[in-house]
Amino acid sequence: MANLTEISWKEFSSLSLEGKRPYLMQSAEDPMPYHTLFAQQFDRALLDRLCALSNRIRFINKSKEGALYLKNVLAHKRAMLYFSQPSSRTFLSHLAACQILGITTGSVRDAATASEFKGESREDSIRTFSSYFDMIIMRSPEQGLAEKMSWELSNSSRPIPILNAGSGKDQHPTQALLDIYTLVRSFEEKGGLDGRVVTFCGDLLRGRTVRSLSYLLTNFKDVKQIFVAPKELQVSDDVKSFLDAKGVKYELSDDLKAASSVSDAVYMTRIQDEWDTNKGESAKIDTSRFKFGAEELALLGKDAVIMHPLPRRDEIATCCDHDPRAMYWRQMRNGMWIRAALIAATFGHERTIMECGY
Ligand code: NCD
Repeated sequence: MANLTEISWKEFSSLSLEGKRPYLMQSAEDPMPYHTLFAQQFDRALLDRLCALSNRIRFINKSKEGALYLKNVLAHKRAMLYFSQPSSRTFLSHLAACQILGITTGSVRDAATASEFKGESREDSIRTFSSYFDMIIMRSPEQGLAEKMSWELSNSSRPIPILNAGSGKDQHPTQALLDIYTLVRSFEEKGGLDGRVVTFCGDLLRGRTVRSLSYLLTNFKDVKQIFVAPKELQVSDDVKSFLDAKGVKYELSDDLKAASSVSDAVYMTRIQDEWDTNKGESAKIDTSRFKFGAEELALLGKDAVIMHPLPRRDEIATCCDHDPRAMYWRQMRNGMWIRAALIAATFGHERTIMECGY
């Protein structure tokens, strides 16, 4: 099987995502990720396995005996949470996921408190973390850093897995996993996710959650995607090319009301103005028509769901918060379960948990 030790960084980094995929898996027989870097690593079979494992962990964790059993599964492991960009949910849900499995954690959340501040490169910092921990969960503003680190670590004397918890404007694979888990759960008793219409609205150009989820949705049959955004923030060409290559139906629009009336899920996102090249440039874009409020809610089907990776600003009016179709709170908690599932599976414990007596 392909192994990162058998390929130079130069060769690896020039491969397509499809080409990189086999190098990131645990083995040819089991294509579960070792390093989780991008959404395209997951196919339908893997998504089904991770959703099943999340359900199982969620169920086992309900009783004290079950929770104590889970706490023992990875009690011998340590994970480093290395977040050099702001985060609440992604940090806390990974932390909670580690706690569920009994993993001890350490964290750096601010590069100013670490040696990076003294001029240490991120590469050296990560090599340092690998001396003390068995997994690195990392968020970085630098696109491609998690990938570079995966190659570096796999080629070091302490090869340990990396989990990408958000890389630049590019990818946020574990968010996409929790979004899929939420969609699967929302429609599981209503005929499933296949054949549904999913609308993305907001900053689709710079929102990494949108990119990763859009890719993951292509694993489901006949899911149509509608991208609603001001033209300056419409989804980028690489996403469109990917969807074209997969033969996925999609539509670009600037009409959230029309999209809400035909969608099974509306995925709202905030304007990612931290990426503005000139300060204040996002504020000049008219985003008033890209907010979900009482009027859109009235147009939404009765079984449809409203989602948001959070944090929200004013893209979803608080009057929607108590509607049973508001799924963003549930989405957050689902993140904890599927991250616990992914971490357990990364350490080879999928079967142990699926087949345990609880
Ligand atoms: C998202 C992110 O960091 O990309 N947040 C998250 O992880 N839930 C979305 C955002 O910041 O808008």
